[in-house]
Amino acid sequence: MIDNNSGLIIPEHVGIIMDGNGRWAKKRALPRSVGHKFGAQNFRKITRYISKTGVKILTLYAFSTENWKRPLEEVSALMSLFKQYLVDSLTDFREDDIKVVFIGDKNGFDKNLRKLIDESEEVAKDRKGMLLNIAMNYGSRDEILRSIKAIAEDVRNNRLNPENITLNDFESHLYTAGLPDPDLIIRTGGEFRLSNFLLYQSAYSEFYSTETLWPDFNEKEFDKAIIEFNQRNRRFGGV
Ligand code: FPP
Repeated sequence: MIDNNSGLIIPEHVGIIMDGNGRWAKKRALPRSVGHKFGAQNFRKITRYISKTGVKILTLYAFSTENWKRPLEEVSALMSLFKQYLVDSLTDFREDDIKVVFIGDKNGFDKNLRKLIDESEEVAKDRKGMLLNIAMNYGSRDEILRSIKAIAEDVRNNRLNPENITLNDFESHLYTAGLPDPDLIIRTGGEFRLSNFLLYQSAYSEFYSTETLWPDFNEKEFDKAIIEFNQRNRRFGGV
C-alpha cells in the first residue's frame, strides 16, 4: 500500500473518470447494468483505499450532464445504483471519516435521490478525513456557464465592475470553489479524453490513462498511477 511513508509525493487532489463498466459487462455477455453494479461496488472499495493513502481530495465522475442520452433502461439502472450505494456507503464512509459532497446540478434528479444526496452531505459535514466529491449530473461546460451567469448578475447589480473581474471571482462560482486544482486525473477504460470533466480546473493536472476497465481497477492499479505521477516533471508553465 502506498501512503505518506512511502517516500513518494502523494497528490493532494485526485480526479477519476470511472469508465469501462459497459465493456466489462459485454466481455462477460452480461447486461451493461451489471457492469455498473460492479462499478459501484468498486467505487466503495477504491474510495476507502484512497482515503488511507494520504490523498486529501478525491473527485469521482459518476454521471455527466450528457449521460441522460443513454437508453432509459440504463439511466434507470444507474439511478437505482446511486440510491443503493449512497445508502450503503454512508456507514463505510463514516468508519473512514470521509466527507461526502456532491458536485453537479442536483435539480436533475428525482426527489428521493435528492433527499439522499442532501442526507449524505449532512451526516458527513463535520468529518475531517478525505473529501470525496461525487460528480453527478456534472458537466464542466455547464459549470462554467453557471459561473458566467453569476458574474453577469453581479455586474448587473453593480456589485462588480467588468474591468476588475478576476480569476478568483470566476472560480468562486465553480462547484470546486475553495479547493485546489486536481494534481492527477486518472481515466480507466483506455480513452485519452476529459469528457467534460473539470475542464477549467485541469489546466495543469497530470493525466493518466489505463486500459483497465473500472470494475477491475484495484489498489495496485491506483498505486501504479501514483508511481507514474511521481515520475512526471510538473512545470506549471515555468521551466
Ligand atoms: C462509464 O462506463 C461509467 C458510468 C457512466 C457510470 C459510473 C458510475 C459508477 C461507477 C457507479 C458509482 C456509484 C455511486 C454511488 C457514485 P461506460 O458505461 O461508459 O462504459 P463503456 O465505455 O465500457 O461503455
